[in-house]
Amino acid sequence: MKSMLAGAPWLLAHKSMLEINKPKKFSMYGSDYVLWKDTTGKINALPNACPHMGAMLSEGWCEQKNDNSSVVVCPFHALEFDSEGCTILPGSNKKTIPQLQPLELIIQGDFIWSYGGQEPKAKIPEILNKIAAEYDFIGYTADTSVETDLLPMLLNMHDYNHQNGTHRPLFRITEVNFGNFIDNGHESHAFYDMPTAPTTVAEKIKKPELFLIAKEIKAHLENHFPSLVIFHGETAIGKVAQCHLFVPESETRTRTYVLMFGKPKHPVFKIFSKSILNFAKVVVEQDTEILLKIYSNTPQKIKLNNEVGMDWVRRNFETWPEIAEPNFSK
Ligand code: FES
Ligand SMILES: [Fe+2]
Repeated sequence: MKSMLAGAPWLLAHKSMLEINKPKKFSMYGSDYVLWKDTTGKINALPNACPHMGAMLSEGWCEQKNDNSSVVVCPFHALEFDSEGCTILPGSNKKTIPQLQPLELIIQGDFIWSYGGQEPKAKIPEILNKIAAEYDFIGYTADTSVETDLLPMLLNMHDYNHQNGTHRPLFRITEVNFGNFIDNGHESHAFYDMPTAPTTVAEKIKKPELFLIAKEIKAHLENHFPSLVIFHGETAIGKVAQCHLFVPESETRTRTYVLMFGKPKHPVFKIFSKSILNFAKVVVEQDTEILLKIYSNTPQKIKLNNEVGMDWVRRNFETWPEIAEPNFSK
């Protein structure tokens, strides 16, 4: 469990990721759950294995009741389970006692958090509520389950040197000029600039996203260990808060996805919102690709400059759930 940081809060989903009355499977800490949202916006979560003969409830459907609540119906023999995990057996007209134990969720606005049934050891970061209040929600993208442990996934996200390798084809980043790093224990901030290679107008017309890329990308990464990294970006037409989320699905599988928020300064920002989302999607695809091509137990014999973000991740992993004395600010 140590490799999955038991006791951390994980953002399972944004409410927009669930369609009304459509069951969806989520995995956490090696267990599968079915989540569904009723017409009132209430989110329900039960273990995904039907207590009759184990069919996946997420493959079933929902049925709406008179009070607008809904139940999930098993695709095998059509038993219905309510939010408490109770069912009504055929030939009976009485509800059973709970047959499934609901997964505890903490709902904050549109954010669906969970400790995966573990005892909480860390607080839910408040920053997403602030961003949701200040920015417009653009959408979610790149919901991906990657065959990797949590640690390599987080290391990749806090590796300020991989832009010129992993992401070079997208951003045409020529170098990373590291600014400073602020270590506040489980929260940290990294500031760096990335000059990009020039593109011709012809190239830009072919790939309009290139218009979005500044000569120099100014990055501020706001990190909330372990579940959240926010890329704050500023362009001439508006600000974005690109939120990367992580969920340990099992010891060897980690899910990641992006929630994108924007604060338009210019009306064309709206036109570009699809491109902004697509950008993030490509970023995650490139990260996923490299994660699948790493011999992760290779001893690290070379250390580059500016690996402070990764040092921060490793330290927090080792001391979890204790918050170590901050010692990486520079
Ligand atoms: S397996 Fe679900 S009702 Fe039989
Ligand atoms: Fe990356």
